[in-house]
Amino acid sequence: MEKPDILMLAPMMPLIVEGIAARFTLHRLWEAPDPERALAELAERVRGIAAGSHAPVTAAVIDRLPRLEIVASFGVGYDHVDAAHAGERGVVVTNTPDVLTDEVADLALGLLISTVRQLPQAEAHLRAGRWLERPYPLTATLRGRRVGILGLGRIGKAIATRLQAFGLEVVYHGRRAQPDVPYRFYGDLVEMARDADVLMVVTPGGPETRHMVNAPVLEALGPEGILVNVARGTVVDERALIDALRQGAILSAGLDVFEDEPRVPAELIAMEHVVLLPHVGSASVHTRNAMGQLVVDNLVSWFDGRGALTPVAETPVPLPLAGRG
Ligand code: 8YV
Repeated sequence: MEKPDILMLAPMMPLIVEGIAARFTLHRLWEAPDPERALAELAERVRGIAAGSHAPVTAAVIDRLPRLEIVASFGVGYDHVDAAHAGERGVVVTNTPDVLTDEVADLALGLLISTVRQLPQAEAHLRAGRWLERPYPLTATLRGRRVGILGLGRIGKAIATRLQAFGLEVVYHGRRAQPDVPYRFYGDLVEMARDADVLMVVTPGGPETRHMVNAPVLEALGPEGILVNVARGTVVDERALIDALRQGAILSAGLDVFEDEPRVPAELIAMEHVVLLPHVGSASVHTRNAMGQLVVDNLVSWFDGRGALTPVAETPVPLPLAGRG
């Protein structure tokens, strides 16, 4: 039987490349001398795309591929795929949820503690030999902080469980109250920020959540407040954040994500009291392998006629198209 043609727009991890090449005919678009021409030549054949966040799968790309059935995306966030358009076209989109939940939640707690207790700065103090001169200054504390989680999905809940084990009160804001959780719900983000001492951002990116954390939210968080973002840089108005940090409107921020990655504003880099990470939430070998395997497994399951394993919400629930010629 003819192997389905799968398109990869930009490099992905070897486990994915090898896994797809073993089962399918894989086209590595970035290796083509003229990618535009290569895409035109492949357009009638491509039935699947394997996608990462570096190469967006836009409506235009989807519309160029009349036989496209599935976009298997790497990462739980899929704001780089026009999933709504794919859904309208009957194209399935899959992401990689669950396998990274605990890893990202661990990182969120690490980043929160690092930010409040200034662990990177304290370590730099030791390495620079300054401990010989004086102890590291006393820091703010995590004790007694109420943590407001923006986006109580799978990762948000895993963070909440960890926070409870740390003896901290958890509240949350999202599109709707969830009756089965023990945490207080706020329908208004500014109100939650006013009552919270930490704002933990875990909501998906994309146009709906763009700049949700803006100047009024940061002001409400207040001069002792800490912002932690492990979701998408676009959720936070980075300009407003820089201003708030400069003016002392909030105490500090721990950021794993930025609006224009991998570019980080010079103003943030110059601030010694913030903690900045290069988007490493899920970045362990163990978890990245599990995410990569799920990309491959979604394609295999789909083209075996067993349906997608982890389709995103925008995907209609069609009968499997695979194998219909
Ligand atoms: C990945 C992520 O680092 O899953 C996500 O949504 O942000 C991270 O786990 C990212 O997708 C890699 O491109």
